[in-house]
Amino acid sequence: MSEQSSDDRCPIAILISGRGSNMRALIDACAAPDFPARIVMVLSNRPDAPGLEVARAAGLRTEALDHRPFGRDRAAHERAVDATLRAAGVEVVCLAGYMRLLTPFLTEAWAGRMLNIHPSLLPAFPGLHTHERALEAGVKLHGCTVHLVTERMDDGPILGQAAISVQIGDTPDHLAGRVLEQEHRLYPAALRRFLRPETPPADGGSLLVA
Ligand code: GAR
Repeated sequence: MSEQSSDDRCPIAILISGRGSNMRALIDACAAPDFPARIVMVLSNRPDAPGLEVARAAGLRTEALDHRPFGRDRAAHERAVDATLRAAGVEVVCLAGYMRLLTPFLTEAWAGRMLNIHPSLLPAFPGLHTHERALEAGVKLHGCTVHLVTERMDDGPILGQAAISVQIGDTPDHLAGRVLEQEHRLYPAALRRFLRPETPPADGGSLLVA
């Protein structure tokens, strides 16, 4: 990644739509002096996203780009998002609960430089209600995935996964809680390795089993 200053940390943006707990995990990771990223912006398509307040309280620049005035013109909203990211010098984008279907405009503009976290072991259970669907399917292992974003939703090269075992009596809420804990470990670890592939992973590999 090219840099203009002596700071060789990669300038990243985090895109959120809601509470931003994965964003929080990335903020905490970026506070470590040896973490290879610095957050230049947190952007949300929802001006009322609770995560924006968390980001502001952490002293970060926030941007709210409401998708609603753009109506059905998703690409027009994405052009505004893209322009905001580029103007801030962002080099890598981390989707963290950014609940928008992306068009090829944004996925092509950021191909190879946009990461997403998803609450299932992809390619199983793309889309919504992953914990309910995992229980219905009777899987014994469930978890989360960090992957590069392509034009297909919840698809693209997998950068890391963390798994939990499903226990008898688990509810979707139980799974959501245990998977979220793993998301908070996985996203910083996957981002670190994406930016510094030459550094041996602290977790010992791409699969963290809890
Ligand atoms: C997380 O569980 C994330 O994996 C999921 O939304 C939640 C956001 O929580 N993302 C998706 O489902 C994307 N397909 P957070 O706002 O607390 O990070």
